[in-house]
Amino acid sequence: MKYQVFALKWRPQTFDQIIGQEHIATVLKNSILRNRVAHAYLFAGPRGVGKTSTARILAKSLNCERGSTVEPCQRCTSCQEITQSRSFDVIEIDGASNRGIDEIRTLREGVKFSPILGHFKIYIIDEVHMLTTEAFNALLKTLEEPPPNVLFIFATTQADKVPATILSRCQRFDFARIATEQIVRQLRKIASQEKIDVNDEALFTIARQSTGSLRDAESILDQLISFTKANSQIKRGDIVSFLGCLEEETVFEITDKIIKGDVKAVLEMTDLLLKRGKNTKTILESLIEHFRNLIVAKVAAGSSLIDLSKEQIIRLVAQSKFFRIEDLFGAFNLLVDTQELSKRLNNSIIPLEISLLRLAIKNGNLPKADR
Ligand SMILES: Nc1ncnc2c1ncn2[C@@H]1O[C@H](COP(=O)(O)OP(=O)(O)O)[C@@H](O)[C@H]1O
Ligand SMILES: [Mg+2]
Ligand SMILES: [Zn+2]
Repeated sequence: MKYQVFALKWRPQTFDQIIGQEHIATVLKNSILRNRVAHAYLFAGPRGVGKTSTARILAKSLNCERGSTVEPCQRCTSCQEITQSRSFDVIEIDGASNRGIDEIRTLREGVKFSPILGHFKIYIIDEVHMLTTEAFNALLKTLEEPPPNVLFIFATTQADKVPATILSRCQRFDFARIATEQIVRQLRKIASQEKIDVNDEALFTIARQSTGSLRDAESILDQLISFTKANSQIKRGDIVSFLGCLEEETVFEITDKIIKGDVKAVLEMTDLLLKRGKNTKTILESLIEHFRNLIVAKVAAGSSLIDLSKEQIIRLVAQSKFFRIEDLFGAFNLLVDTQELSKRLNNSIIPLEISLLRLAIKNGNLPKADR
Protein backbone atom coordinates (compact mmCIF):
# COMPACT_ATOMS: atom_id res chain seq x y z
CA MET A 1 0.00 0.00 0.00
CA LYS A 2 1.08 3.51 -0.72
CA TYR A 3 2.75 5.23 2.20
CA GLN A 4 0.64 8.04 3.59
CA VAL A 5 1.84 10.57 6.13
CA PHE A 6 0.15 10.27 9.53
CA ALA A 7 -1.56 13.64 9.32
CA LEU A 8 -3.50 12.46 6.25
CA LYS A 9 -3.88 8.84 7.21
CA TRP A 10 -5.40 9.92 10.54
CA ARG A 11 -7.76 12.55 9.21
CA PRO A 12 -11.05 12.24 11.10
CA GLN A 13 -13.86 10.98 8.85
CA THR A 14 -16.84 11.37 11.20
CA PHE A 15 -17.99 14.06 13.60
CA ASP A 16 -17.25 11.78 16.52
CA GLN A 17 -13.63 11.39 15.51
CA ILE A 18 -12.95 15.13 15.68
CA ILE A 19 -10.93 15.78 18.79
CA GLY A 20 -11.37 18.77 21.05
CA GLN A 21 -14.01 20.65 19.05
CA GLU A 22 -17.08 19.02 20.58
CA HIS A 23 -19.11 22.25 20.73
CA ILE A 24 -18.77 22.68 16.97
CA ALA A 25 -19.51 19.06 16.10
CA THR A 26 -22.63 19.14 18.27
CA VAL A 27 -24.06 22.29 16.69
CA LEU A 28 -23.33 21.04 13.18
CA LYS A 29 -24.91 17.67 13.86
CA ASN A 30 -28.02 19.36 15.25
CA SER A 31 -28.35 21.60 12.22
CA ILE A 32 -28.15 18.60 9.92
CA LEU A 33 -30.73 16.68 11.94
CA ARG A 34 -33.09 19.65 12.07
CA ASN A 35 -32.53 20.56 8.44
CA ARG A 36 -31.24 23.98 9.41
CA VAL A 37 -27.85 24.07 7.74
CA ALA A 38 -26.68 27.63 7.07
CA HIS A 39 -25.70 28.93 3.63
CA ALA A 40 -22.26 29.97 4.77
CA TYR A 41 -19.95 29.02 7.59
CA LEU A 42 -16.72 30.51 8.76
CA PHE A 43 -14.31 28.14 10.46
CA ALA A 44 -11.76 30.23 12.30
CA GLY A 45 -8.78 29.01 14.27
CA PRO A 46 -5.10 28.12 14.26
CA ARG A 47 -3.67 25.64 11.77
CA GLY A 48 -3.95 21.92 12.25
CA VAL A 49 -6.94 21.86 14.58
CA GLY A 50 -9.56 20.29 12.30
CA LYS A 51 -11.09 23.04 10.14
CA THR A 52 -10.63 21.32 6.77
CA SER A 53 -11.49 17.93 8.23
CA THR A 54 -14.73 19.28 9.70
CA ALA A 55 -15.64 20.99 6.42
CA ARG A 56 -15.24 17.71 4.55
CA ILE A 57 -17.23 15.77 7.13
CA LEU A 58 -20.05 18.32 6.85
CA ALA A 59 -19.91 18.02 3.06
CA LYS A 60 -20.01 14.25 3.25
CA SER A 61 -22.93 14.33 5.68
CA LEU A 62 -24.98 16.51 3.36
CA ASN A 63 -24.14 14.69 0.16
CA CYS A 64 -24.17 11.07 1.25
CA GLU A 65 -26.27 9.08 -1.21
CA ARG A 66 -28.31 7.76 1.67
CA GLY A 67 -29.54 11.30 2.30
CA SER A 68 -28.50 13.95 4.80
CA THR A 69 -27.15 12.21 7.84
CA VAL A 70 -24.84 12.83 10.78
CA GLU A 71 -23.24 9.48 10.09
CA PRO A 72 -22.20 9.45 6.43
CA CYS A 73 -21.91 5.90 5.10
CA GLN A 74 -18.30 6.36 3.86
CA ARG A 75 -19.08 3.85 1.09
CA CYS A 76 -21.21 5.50 -1.51
CA THR A 77 -19.57 7.20 -4.47
CA SER A 78 -20.16 10.63 -3.01
CA CYS A 79 -18.62 9.78 0.38
CA GLN A 80 -15.61 8.13 -1.22
CA GLU A 81 -15.02 10.94 -3.67
CA ILE A 82 -15.12 13.50 -0.89
CA THR A 83 -12.71 11.47 1.23
CA GLN A 84 -10.32 11.36 -1.72
CA SER A 85 -11.00 15.04 -2.51
CA ARG A 86 -12.12 14.42 -6.06
CA SER A 87 -15.84 15.14 -5.81
CA PHE A 88 -17.20 17.47 -8.47
CA ASP A 89 -19.74 18.80 -6.00
CA VAL A 90 -17.24 19.72 -3.32
CA ILE A 91 -14.88 22.34 -4.61
CA GLU A 92 -11.87 23.20 -2.50
CA ILE A 93 -10.20 26.49 -3.26
CA ASP A 94 -7.02 27.70 -1.66
CA GLY A 95 -7.62 31.39 -1.02
CA ALA A 96 -3.91 32.03 -0.71
CA SER A 97 -3.12 31.06 -4.30
CA ASN A 98 -6.47 31.99 -5.89
CA ARG A 99 -6.85 35.45 -4.51
CA GLY A 100 -8.22 37.38 -7.41
CA ILE A 101 -11.45 38.48 -9.00
CA ASP A 102 -11.13 35.96 -11.87
CA GLU A 103 -11.22 32.99 -9.56
CA ILE A 104 -14.29 34.32 -7.77
CA ARG A 105 -15.97 35.07 -11.13
CA THR A 106 -15.40 31.46 -12.15
CA LEU A 107 -16.88 30.45 -8.83
CA ARG A 108 -19.91 32.66 -9.40
CA GLU A 109 -20.45 31.05 -12.79
CA GLY A 110 -20.07 27.62 -11.23
CA VAL A 111 -22.64 28.09 -8.48
CA LYS A 112 -25.33 28.44 -11.12
CA PHE A 113 -25.02 24.79 -12.11
CA SER A 114 -26.67 22.24 -9.91
CA PRO A 115 -24.70 19.58 -8.11
CA ILE A 116 -23.91 16.52 -10.18
CA LEU A 117 -24.18 13.65 -7.77
CA GLY A 118 -24.97 15.07 -4.35
CA HIS A 119 -27.71 17.28 -3.00
CA PHE A 120 -25.45 20.27 -2.42
CA LYS A 121 -22.72 22.09 -4.19
CA ILE A 122 -20.19 22.92 -1.52
CA TYR A 123 -17.38 25.42 -1.81
CA ILE A 124 -14.61 25.17 0.75
CA ILE A 125 -12.38 28.23 0.57
CA ASP A 126 -9.28 27.89 2.70
CA GLU A 127 -7.41 30.92 4.06
CA VAL A 128 -10.27 33.09 2.83
CA HIS A 129 -8.75 36.22 4.42
CA MET A 130 -6.17 36.23 1.61
CA LEU A 131 -8.71 37.16 -1.09
CA THR A 132 -8.35 40.58 -2.66
CA THR A 133 -10.93 43.29 -1.99
CA GLU A 134 -12.41 42.86 -5.49
CA ALA A 135 -12.68 39.13 -4.94
CA PHE A 136 -14.43 39.72 -1.62
CA ASN A 137 -16.88 42.09 -3.25
CA ALA A 138 -17.69 39.58 -5.93
CA LEU A 139 -18.08 36.87 -3.34
CA LEU A 140 -20.37 39.09 -1.33
CA LYS A 141 -22.83 39.32 -4.21
CA THR A 142 -23.16 35.55 -4.20
CA LEU A 143 -23.51 35.47 -0.44
CA GLU A 144 -26.26 38.05 -0.55
CA GLU A 145 -28.38 35.92 -2.82
CA PRO A 146 -27.20 32.43 -2.19
CA PRO A 147 -28.52 30.01 -4.81
CA PRO A 148 -30.39 27.09 -3.27
CA ASN A 149 -28.33 24.00 -2.56
CA VAL A 150 -25.08 25.91 -2.43
CA LEU A 151 -23.05 25.93 0.74
CA PHE A 152 -19.95 27.96 1.46
CA ILE A 153 -17.45 26.94 4.08
CA PHE A 154 -14.71 29.48 4.63
CA ALA A 155 -11.69 28.61 6.71
CA THR A 156 -9.18 31.05 8.07
CA THR A 157 -6.33 31.30 10.51
CA GLN A 158 -6.87 35.07 10.67
CA ALA A 159 -10.53 35.83 11.14
CA ASP A 160 -9.79 39.45 12.02
CA LYS A 161 -8.74 40.01 8.40
CA VAL A 162 -12.07 38.84 6.98
CA PRO A 163 -14.27 41.85 6.10
CA ALA A 164 -17.26 42.45 8.37
CA THR A 165 -19.61 42.28 5.39
CA ILE A 166 -18.59 38.66 4.84
CA LEU A 167 -18.52 37.80 8.55
CA SER A 168 -22.05 39.03 9.04
CA ARG A 169 -23.31 36.58 6.44
CA CYS A 170 -21.68 33.53 7.94
CA GLN A 171 -22.31 31.36 10.92
CA ARG A 172 -18.99 31.47 12.69
CA PHE A 173 -17.24 28.69 14.59
CA ASP A 174 -14.03 29.23 16.49
CA PHE A 175 -11.84 26.17 16.55
CA ALA A 176 -9.76 25.88 19.68
CA ARG A 177 -6.18 24.78 20.08
CA ILE A 178 -6.18 21.18 21.21
CA ALA A 179 -5.18 20.51 24.80
CA THR A 180 -1.82 18.85 25.41
CA GLU A 181 -3.53 15.92 27.18
CA GLN A 182 -5.77 15.27 24.19
CA ILE A 183 -2.86 15.46 21.78
CA VAL A 184 -0.92 12.99 23.88
CA ARG A 185 -3.89 10.62 23.91
CA GLN A 186 -4.19 10.74 20.12
CA LEU A 187 -0.45 10.27 19.60
CA ARG A 188 -0.54 7.29 21.96
CA LYS A 189 -3.34 5.77 19.91
CA ILE A 190 -1.51 6.33 16.63
CA ALA A 191 1.74 4.96 18.06
CA SER A 192 0.06 1.80 19.27
CA GLN A 193 -1.76 1.14 15.99
CA GLU A 194 1.31 1.92 13.92
CA LYS A 195 3.43 -0.26 16.24
CA ILE A 196 5.77 2.51 17.26
CA ASP A 197 7.53 2.22 20.58
CA VAL A 198 7.57 5.65 22.16
CA ASN A 199 7.36 6.54 25.82
CA ASP A 200 4.89 8.95 27.37
CA GLU A 201 7.47 11.53 28.30
CA ALA A 202 8.42 11.77 24.64
CA LEU A 203 4.79 12.12 23.58
CA PHE A 204 4.36 14.95 26.08
CA THR A 205 7.35 16.76 24.64
CA ILE A 206 5.97 16.44 21.11
CA ALA A 207 2.55 17.66 22.23
CA ARG A 208 3.99 20.67 24.01
CA GLN A 209 6.13 21.54 21.04
CA SER A 210 3.17 21.53 18.67
CA THR A 211 1.33 24.24 20.65
CA GLY A 212 -2.16 22.89 20.18
CA SER A 213 -1.87 21.82 16.54
CA LEU A 214 -2.67 18.14 16.18
CA ARG A 215 -1.36 18.16 12.64
CA ASP A 216 2.02 19.43 13.79
CA ALA A 217 2.15 16.83 16.55
CA GLU A 218 1.36 14.00 14.13
CA SER A 219 3.95 15.25 11.65
CA ILE A 220 6.65 15.36 14.30
CA LEU A 221 5.88 11.78 15.34
CA ASP A 222 5.90 10.74 11.70
CA GLN A 223 9.26 12.30 10.95
CA LEU A 224 10.81 10.97 14.14
CA ILE A 225 10.35 7.42 12.94
CA SER A 226 12.79 7.83 10.10
CA PHE A 227 15.08 9.80 12.38
CA THR A 228 15.43 7.16 15.08
CA LYS A 229 16.91 3.66 14.89
CA ALA A 230 14.49 0.93 13.85
CA ASN A 231 13.06 -1.18 16.68
CA SER A 232 14.32 1.07 19.43
CA GLN A 233 12.14 3.05 21.78
CA ILE A 234 11.71 6.71 21.00
CA LYS A 235 12.61 8.74 24.05
CA ARG A 236 12.47 12.38 24.96
CA GLY A 237 16.14 12.81 24.10
CA ASP A 238 15.42 11.81 20.47
CA ILE A 239 12.81 14.51 20.18
CA VAL A 240 14.96 17.09 21.82
CA SER A 241 17.79 16.49 19.39
CA PHE A 242 15.42 16.17 16.45
CA LEU A 243 13.65 19.44 17.14
CA GLY A 244 16.64 21.26 18.53
CA CYS A 245 14.49 22.27 21.50
CA LEU A 246 15.71 22.42 25.07
CA GLU A 247 15.35 19.67 27.64
CA GLU A 248 13.12 20.88 30.46
CA GLU A 249 15.93 19.74 32.73
CA THR A 250 18.26 22.31 31.19
CA VAL A 251 15.86 25.18 31.74
CA PHE A 252 15.40 24.12 35.36
CA GLU A 253 19.16 24.05 35.79
CA ILE A 254 19.75 27.50 34.33
CA THR A 255 17.04 28.83 36.66
CA ASP A 256 18.71 27.11 39.62
CA LYS A 257 21.95 28.92 38.76
CA ILE A 258 20.06 32.20 38.50
CA ILE A 259 18.57 31.59 41.94
CA LYS A 260 22.02 30.88 43.35
CA GLY A 261 23.36 33.97 41.62
CA ASP A 262 26.04 31.83 40.01
CA VAL A 263 26.86 34.22 37.18
CA LYS A 264 29.74 32.19 35.85
CA ALA A 265 27.75 28.95 35.68
CA VAL A 266 24.89 30.72 33.90
CA LEU A 267 27.23 32.00 31.20
CA GLU A 268 28.97 28.68 30.84
CA MET A 269 25.71 26.84 30.48
CA THR A 270 24.52 29.21 27.78
CA ASP A 271 27.78 28.80 25.96
CA LEU A 272 27.53 25.03 26.15
CA LEU A 273 24.02 25.07 24.72
CA LEU A 274 25.19 27.10 21.75
CA LYS A 275 28.08 24.73 21.21
CA ARG A 276 25.58 21.88 21.17
CA GLY A 277 23.76 23.58 18.34
CA LYS A 278 20.85 25.21 20.16
CA ASN A 279 20.09 28.69 18.91
CA THR A 280 19.33 31.91 20.76
CA LYS A 281 15.74 31.89 19.62
CA THR A 282 15.02 28.43 21.03
CA ILE A 283 16.79 29.15 24.31
CA LEU A 284 14.83 32.37 24.78
CA GLU A 285 11.53 30.75 23.92
CA SER A 286 12.14 28.00 26.46
CA LEU A 287 13.15 30.47 29.17
CA ILE A 288 10.13 32.68 28.51
CA GLU A 289 7.85 29.67 28.78
CA HIS A 290 9.59 28.60 31.96
CA PHE A 291 9.17 31.98 33.62
CA ARG A 292 5.56 32.06 32.52
CA ASN A 293 5.16 28.69 34.22
CA LEU A 294 6.92 29.94 37.35
CA ILE A 295 4.46 32.83 37.57
CA VAL A 296 1.48 30.50 37.18
CA ALA A 297 3.00 28.06 39.69
CA LYS A 298 3.34 30.88 42.19
CA VAL A 299 -0.15 32.32 41.90
CA ALA A 300 -2.21 29.28 40.89
CA ALA A 301 -0.20 26.22 41.87
CA GLY A 302 -2.98 23.64 41.74
CA SER A 303 -4.33 24.65 38.34
CA SER A 304 -4.09 22.68 35.12
CA LEU A 305 -2.53 25.61 33.29
CA ILE A 306 0.93 24.11 33.14
CA ASP A 307 1.78 21.47 30.54
CA LEU A 308 4.37 19.58 32.52
CA SER A 309 4.44 16.24 34.28
CA LYS A 310 3.49 16.05 37.99
CA GLU A 311 7.10 15.76 39.15
CA GLN A 312 8.12 18.75 37.08
CA ILE A 313 5.28 20.84 38.49
CA ILE A 314 6.43 20.04 42.02
CA ARG A 315 9.90 21.21 41.07
CA LEU A 316 8.46 24.31 39.43
CA VAL A 317 6.50 25.27 42.54
CA ALA A 318 9.65 24.79 44.64
CA GLN A 319 11.64 27.03 42.31
CA SER A 320 8.96 29.69 42.25
CA LYS A 321 9.32 30.09 46.04
CA PHE A 322 12.80 31.54 45.56
CA PHE A 323 11.39 34.50 43.67
CA ARG A 324 9.07 37.30 44.70
CA ILE A 325 6.20 37.65 42.26
CA GLU A 326 7.42 41.07 41.13
CA ASP A 327 10.82 39.56 40.38
CA LEU A 328 9.18 36.94 38.21
CA PHE A 329 7.25 39.61 36.31
CA GLY A 330 10.49 41.56 35.96
CA ALA A 331 12.38 38.52 34.67
CA PHE A 332 9.59 37.69 32.24
CA ASN A 333 9.52 41.22 30.84
CA LEU A 334 13.28 41.29 30.56
CA LEU A 335 13.28 38.03 28.58
CA VAL A 336 10.53 39.21 26.25
CA ASP A 337 12.40 42.46 25.59
CA THR A 338 15.54 40.45 25.02
CA GLN A 339 13.72 38.35 22.44
CA GLU A 340 12.78 41.52 20.53
CA LEU A 341 16.27 42.95 20.73
CA SER A 342 17.85 39.65 19.77
CA LYS A 343 15.62 39.44 16.67
CA ARG A 344 16.69 42.92 15.60
CA LEU A 345 20.33 41.93 16.02
CA ASN A 346 19.97 38.82 13.82
CA ASN A 347 19.61 36.44 16.75
CA SER A 348 22.76 37.64 18.36
CA ILE A 349 23.61 35.83 21.58
CA ILE A 350 24.78 38.95 23.42
CA PRO A 351 21.41 40.28 24.64
CA LEU A 352 20.61 36.81 26.01
CA GLU A 353 23.92 36.58 27.85
CA ILE A 354 23.58 40.00 29.40
CA SER A 355 19.98 39.41 30.47
CA LEU A 356 20.81 36.11 32.14
CA LEU A 357 23.69 37.84 33.81
CA ARG A 358 21.39 40.55 35.09
CA LEU A 359 18.94 38.01 36.45
CA ALA A 360 21.69 36.08 38.20
CA ILE A 361 23.24 39.18 39.73
CA LYS A 362 19.87 40.40 40.91
CA ASN A 363 19.19 37.15 42.70
CA GLY A 364 22.66 36.38 43.84
CA ASN A 365 24.36 37.53 47.00
CA LEU A 366 27.39 39.20 45.55
CA PRO A 367 29.42 41.02 48.19
CA LYS A 368 28.27 44.65 48.50
CA ALA A 369 31.43 46.05 46.99
CA ASP A 370 30.89 44.04 43.81
CA ARG A 371 27.31 45.16 43.22
N1 LIG B 1 -9.61 18.16 15.84
C1 LIG B 1 -8.92 17.16 15.26
N2 LIG B 1 -9.25 15.86 15.51
C2 LIG B 1 -8.55 14.85 14.94
N3 LIG B 1 -7.51 15.04 14.10
C3 LIG B 1 -7.14 16.30 13.82
C4 LIG B 1 -7.83 17.42 14.39
N4 LIG B 1 -7.24 18.54 13.95
C5 LIG B 1 -6.24 18.16 13.16
N5 LIG B 1 -6.15 16.81 13.08
C6 LIG B 1 -5.13 16.07 12.32
O1 LIG B 1 -4.42 17.02 11.53
C7 LIG B 1 -4.68 16.85 10.15
C8 LIG B 1 -4.96 18.19 9.51
O2 LIG B 1 -6.15 18.75 10.04
P1 LIG B 1 -7.00 19.84 9.26
O3 LIG B 1 -8.43 19.52 9.48
O4 LIG B 1 -6.56 19.89 7.83
O5 LIG B 1 -6.57 21.14 10.02
P2 LIG B 1 -6.81 22.67 9.64
O6 LIG B 1 -7.68 22.73 8.44
O7 LIG B 1 -7.44 23.27 10.86
O8 LIG B 1 -5.44 23.24 9.40
C9 LIG B 1 -5.87 15.90 10.08
O9 LIG B 1 -5.79 15.13 8.93
C10 LIG B 1 -5.72 15.08 11.34
O10 LIG B 1 -4.77 14.06 11.14
MG1 LIG C 1 -7.02 23.39 6.52
ZN1 LIG D 1 -22.32 7.98 1.74
